[in-house]
Amino acid sequence: MTLTLERPVTAAARTGTDIHIEGLEKTYAGAQASVIPNLTAHLRAGEFTVILGPSGCGKSTLLNMLAGLEAVGAGRIRFGAREVQALAPRDRGCAMVFQNYALYPHMTVARNMDYSLRIAKVPRAEREARVAEVARMLELSALLDRRPSQLSGGQRQRVAIGRAIIREPQVLLFDEPLSNLDARLRNETRMELAQLHRRIGATSVFVTHDQVEAMTLADRVMILNKGRIEQFAPPSDIYAAPASTFVAGFLGSPPMNLLAVESRNGRMALPDGSTIGCRRDGMFQLGIRPEHIRLGTGAEMRVQFREELGSHSVIALTTSDGGRLRVTAPPGGVGDALRVSFPQDALHLFDAETGLAVRELLIRT
Ligand SMILES: Nc1ncnc2c1ncn2[C@@H]1O[C@H](COP(=O)(O)OP(=O)(O)OP(=O)(O)O)[C@@H](O)[C@H]1O
Ligand SMILES: [Mg+2]
Repeated sequence: MTLTLERPVTAAARTGTDIHIEGLEKTYAGAQASVIPNLTAHLRAGEFTVILGPSGCGKSTLLNMLAGLEAVGAGRIRFGAREVQALAPRDRGCAMVFQNYALYPHMTVARNMDYSLRIAKVPRAEREARVAEVARMLELSALLDRRPSQLSGGQRQRVAIGRAIIREPQVLLFDEPLSNLDARLRNETRMELAQLHRRIGATSVFVTHDQVEAMTLADRVMILNKGRIEQFAPPSDIYAAPASTFVAGFLGSPPMNLLAVESRNGRMALPDGSTIGCRRDGMFQLGIRPEHIRLGTGAEMRVQFREELGSHSVIALTTSDGGRLRVTAPPGGVGDALRVSFPQDALHLFDAETGLAVRELLIRT
């Protein structure tokens, strides 16, 4: 599907608005601990932020506080210069798209989309113009007279997105909007969303636990762990330099290998048989991505199992101390053992206790 709209919906939407989150806290009634202990972040105007994290880490809670569907415990949220944390959802100038697109079953697509405009008493001619414009953008023009039951899942989700953007919000919030779609539609809708964002330019916050969505959609990814930001950076930075073992193990498919290593007298012995200098002695987690491991030289390791994925295969190896190492390799068979070596510039290092990246301790030669 291609988007055919020639101009952004409005000038206001085009600029989006900065979102400032300051000292945000949330504890649900009856709970022992905070879901969000103390979160501060600045989302730039027009930026597409993806919030990524495991189930239960507080993604929806954070989004709902931005939308006004959940009260904040403490802290402030500003959209531009406006403090919004005490405002009702409808007064915040944001719109939200949910996983379960709750469309009105008895209304046509057109009525579903212009519902909020009718509530806001927008004149009919303008309503019709906006419906036509948004429908064109989302390729729904031919479906305007249908009811939701006569649409596919992907079409319904597009109507839900249309309903959200028709109000020309400055802030667009998405809570796993693609997770009910099948793989093909998910891919398509993801690409459409990326283009749509570029057209309308609203500041967008998109919650997911799908790392492909995060990598492909985001200007910056906010990785949440137990309501705390582990890293908030462009996807390529997060891939190249994860700030912690949590991030390293969360992003990448298969994720980064993490191996316990010890540095003694300034040197660290690595599982591939090589050594590398280290500025501090003690225990560390060594990180290396499966796709960065070199095959054919280095220590020999036993093949545990192999997953054939068509374009490449993922091979699990057993290290000399019984650990597991995943490598990616060209498709095709392998023997019982493989030689592997670790290029020094592909190595990551994390403090064994805090899990934080300490790559500056490595002395590469
Ligand atoms: N209304 C509520 N009352 C009490 N606890 C809640 C409520 N809503 C969420 N929680 C709890 O707060 C934590 C965070 O929930 P939240 O829905 O924000 O997670 P999430 O990151 O969106 O997870 P998922 O990926 O599964 O959607 C969870 O432990 C959840 O059980
Ligand atoms: Mg959620």
